[in-house]
Amino acid sequence: MGFNPTRVVDAGCGSGRFVASIARRRKDLQIVAVDLDPLQTILTRAVLKVLGAVAVTVLQADYTGLDLPRCLDRTAFIGNPPYVRHHQLTPDAKEWAVRTARRLGLRLSALAGLHVYFYLATARYARPGDLGCFVTSAEWLDVNYGHALRRLLLDNLGVRALHLVDPRAVPFADAMTTAVIACFEVGSAWPTVRFRTVGRTADLHQLDGGSEVSSDALRRASRWTLTLSARDGTIEDDTARLGEIARVHRGLVTGANDFFILSRDRAAELGISAWCRPAIVGADEILSSNGIIRDAPERRLLLDVPPSINRSAHPELDAYLRRGEEAHGDRPPIDSRYIPSHRHPWWFLGHWRPAPIVVSYMARRPPRFALNPDGLAIVNVAHGIYPKRALSPDELKALVVRLNEARDSFRGNGRTYHGGLEKFEPREMEALRFSAKGIL
Ligand SMILES: C[S@@+](CC[C@H](N)C(=O)[O-])C[C@H]1O[C@@H](n2cnc3c(N)ncnc32)[C@H](O)[C@@H]1O
Repeated sequence: MGFNPTRVVDAGCGSGRFVASIARRRKDLQIVAVDLDPLQTILTRAVLKVLGAVAVTVLQADYTGLDLPRCLDRTAFIGNPPYVRHHQLTPDAKEWAVRTARRLGLRLSALAGLHVYFYLATARYARPGDLGCFVTSAEWLDVNYGHALRRLLLDNLGVRALHLVDPRAVPFADAMTTAVIACFEVGSAWPTVRFRTVGRTADLHQLDGGSEVSSDALRRASRWTLTLSARDGTIEDDTARLGEIARVHRGLVTGANDFFILSRDRAAELGISAWCRPAIVGADEILSSNGIIRDAPERRLLLDVPPSINRSAHPELDAYLRRGEEAHGDRPPIDSRYIPSHRHPWWFLGHWRPAPIVVSYMARRPPRFALNPDGLAIVNVAHGIYPKRALSPDELKALVVRLNEARDSFRGNGRTYHGGLEKFEPREMEALRFSAKGIL
């Protein structure tokens, strides 16, 4: 942007890279550099001194709590706000953010991270005519908790351009994440936003180029990447909720995995292989899969006995089931455990049919989807996805590919527990929106 600010505010300046580069060009510019970390502020002071910058204020402070003096002319806000996820933020910080968002007419999700707080603080400090340019991870463009930030940029901060760095460019050396640079000019509601995808970080030296996308189209969209990529702003809406295409059901609950899950050798030794089905018994099997999960000799088996079986006609099976009906030392019988005791008969896990697609639903990573061509059974470490209409093998494959492509955007749509563990119930999974090109 060809604008000439009088003051630059670096939000979370770190060692002062950004302001140093500015001071090399303009020593007279007023510089306010802020960082919480005293070591970083010492480094920033030192580098600005060496470069001979004349109007410098380096603050060791929380950027969200500044008392920023008024500037009669234009201020430019710059920064690479810290990527701190919501579960590492204090209740006080969260309360501040919700309050500040409310004052700006926004409803902030509790899942928003510190980078969103930096934008909120900037909206408080900025005056009409001020400029800004922040680089952050890009997930806020598409996830639910990014909604407040998207509105803030459109309606309060005046977003002018977005430069999305292709994830393959690895924008941050220390984090496998996507990045977006947002440029804003406060005080006007701009009719369009310029959008550009950048393949290499070297292409970011010049923040120009790209195509204009209608701000109204962005205002209507719940995920920006797709709208932006449609270039002219007309929403070519090929997105769907998973629930429009398929139902999601839980895996089988055994209530006693030690009894119902067996190795192939053990099942053969007991003479009960005929009543065992290969199964997915650990979420890792899906998380480490490459979009397809197969049967294999080492795969574990699930005891799957029909309710109508005549036990006395199958003495080996009967003997095994009787083990579940007897106490062993101080261990009470399996059939008296809570879940088995509520089933009829206690060893019947329920009617099930193989899920064409399986998905992990609880991890510190977003869900991963996999084709299940061998019809493996699943216990409740995974959910099964059952298309509502028969899909061809190619369509099933496309569905898995599309879902896995979108998996990063699913973060924040489930329930997050301490430590970043996120869990998706079947209905939450059905609500996930993704590009369903070739399947709808
Ligand atoms: C991702 S680094 C960016 C550093 C620098 N802009 C750069 O690109 O090299 C984010 C910086 O924000 C600082 N920080 C974290 N929380 C902060 C807060 N509440 N207020 C001010 N700075 C904060 C960190 O200490 C860190 O130096």
